[in-house]
Amino acid sequence: MEPVRLSVNVDHVATVRNVRGTSYPDPVHVAVLALNAGADGIVVHLREDRRHIRERDVEILRATAPRLCLELARAPDVLEFALQVQPDLALLVPERREELTTEGGLDVRGDVKGVANVVSMLQEKGIPVCLFVDPEEAQLEAAARTGARVVELHTGRYADAPNDAHAARELEVLRSAAAHAARLGFQVHAGHGLRRDNVRAVARIPEVEELAIGHALVARALHVGMEAAVREMRKAIRG
Ligand code: PXP
Repeated sequence: MEPVRLSVNVDHVATVRNVRGTSYPDPVHVAVLALNAGADGIVVHLREDRRHIRERDVEILRATAPRLCLELARAPDVLEFALQVQPDLALLVPERREELTTEGGLDVRGDVKGVANVVSMLQEKGIPVCLFVDPEEAQLEAAARTGARVVELHTGRYADAPNDAHAARELEVLRSAAAHAARLGFQVHAGHGLRRDNVRAVARIPEVEELAIGHALVARALHVGMEAAVREMRKAIRG
């Protein structure tokens, strides 16, 4: 069996950069470190409000990363940009300005035609499309009618489960959604809220080919990187 691929989301490196209006930390630089360490690809979300990733980041990543997934909502300017930049995968998500992160899957069922239009616009230009959906049969069946070939199952309800019994139930939901998605002919990805302590069970779902992980990795990088950063600063002070 092929090992599950890991796509690293570097959005929150850009969040830290933007909050101070500096040019660092650079999400492109951190993406290269992630790739050097064994990540299979990079994911970035170009939000309508550009709160973290910006066009410049995507353009440089396009030229740097062996596999780039561009996460986007259906904002016309972002779609236009995606068509120009030609990512290896376009990941369609819903977007609300007030949300802290992508909060739910796309309601494909509520707008099959609208989603199908965007899918065909991207696929006609040779950009494969992945739909981010909640692990529900009705959403998957609607997704199958849009022409998309890939789905990313939202793992948030599993990751945020308040106790083990709840997590076990949500894992079962993910398992059966993954099997259903594969029966419908989808390649299956999964992501949201995955951490070192909960990732293994999702990685073991046989149909899951790729995981998208961001927040836990960026947070962990701070923990494992701070000692070295302080040592370097001490050295710089000493001269
Ligand atoms: N997949 C999608 C569609 C997302 O929006 C996000 C968050 O940016 C992720 C995966 C990664 O989630 P997390 O940052 O919790 O690892």
